[in-house]
Amino acid sequence: MKNDQGFATRAIHLGYDPMSHEGALTPPLHLTSTFAFETAEAGGETFAGERAGHVYSRISNPTLDLLEKRMASLEGAEAGLALASGMGAITSTLWTLLAQGDEVIVDKTLYGCTFSFLRHGLAKFGVKVSHVDMTDPENLIPVLNDRTRVVYFETPANPNMRLVDIAAVSKIAHDAGALVVVDNTYATPYLTRPIALGADLVLHSATKYLGGHGDLVAGIVVGRAEQISEIRLVGMKDMTGAVMAPFNAMLVMRGLKTLGLRMDRHCTSAQVVADWLECQSAVSKVHYPGLQSFAQHDLACRQMSKPGAMIAFELEGGQEAGRELMNRLRMIGRAVSLGDAETLIQHPASMTHSTYSPEERAEHGISDGLIRLSVGLEDVDDILDDLYHALERQNLARSA
Ligand SMILES: Cc1ncc(COP(=O)(O)O)c(C=O)c1O
Repeated sequence: MKNDQGFATRAIHLGYDPMSHEGALTPPLHLTSTFAFETAEAGGETFAGERAGHVYSRISNPTLDLLEKRMASLEGAEAGLALASGMGAITSTLWTLLAQGDEVIVDKTLYGCTFSFLRHGLAKFGVKVSHVDMTDPENLIPVLNDRTRVVYFETPANPNMRLVDIAAVSKIAHDAGALVVVDNTYATPYLTRPIALGADLVLHSATKYLGGHGDLVAGIVVGRAEQISEIRLVGMKDMTGAVMAPFNAMLVMRGLKTLGLRMDRHCTSAQVVADWLECQSAVSKVHYPGLQSFAQHDLACRQMSKPGAMIAFELEGGQEAGRELMNRLRMIGRAVSLGDAETLIQHPASMTHSTYSPEERAEHGISDGLIRLSVGLEDVDDILDDLYHALERQNLARSA
């Protein structure tokens, strides 16, 4: 099949011909831990990498192989690797790229467990972690040095939506000999393709939009074939063992088939919700790349084909008002995770980003009053209705 087909076509068809599988429209699920060799010699050659084939499902599996090819294609990368979780992708990648004495420069704002892994995991093994505010790429210049191996960031960042200019940061990092790793979970390849902008490796929590239905935990990393092979054979096989289960690979492939459709709907609804929130007197600030008031709106227009479906906002009444709002909602789920069909709301300071100390949150730009909303696929009027009535009940309670 041609590889120059559109995004949705590749997400649905790439790498699979039903006629090679007894006409089965859906690719087979290879539920096997190991693979038999024709002869002892063939086994030895496969192990040595001299003969193509699978050995053991902690290294590779045909069901995962198909997902890896599809994700690599959607991200515009040479190769991909499927892992047990987003954290499995992050840890397997960074354990592979970094060694004692190396330095990794990361953005100021990161998902809570990524922050915790860097601060309490990598740092424990002699890797220096430096935080830089990458909203201005020039800030990297004085911090980069000959021990810097990796520059790592999320865009948009979880939870405060700050964007990083992938092309500008990649240029500066490459000039200093560092690799660029981007967590593209919030944007997905449908909205942003970091490799085309200069990044070396792109990773995802596939638990989110890629899976899309809140029924699995999974991760993916894509990049150049040589680097992906190293992450597979060192980071994943020997260091984390964070392999994806074949059943989850099948579910992620099912999610990919509708990724574009879902993202279109997520983004349209999120814009409506962000516009509406911005007009509410109880809301003091809305952080959404699709708003003119968003500080990096121009970068969002350049780097993202649409502004995504994650919104962060703050209420006039601060943290307490946020808690009350969450408790008054009737449809929107109080839950972490994001990118599901269901609209989800959470409070980063006490939930996803409680891995930061209060001082660290203040230093890293995560305010205690921030509320994170993942706009789902319900009818947008019902999402607005739930928010409206929760705010209304709050106003009534306050004025009573
Ligand atoms: C931006 C981002 N990266 C990585 C992760 C970790 O992914 P997982 O939960 O699949 O391990 C998350 C989880 O919320 C996330 O939001």
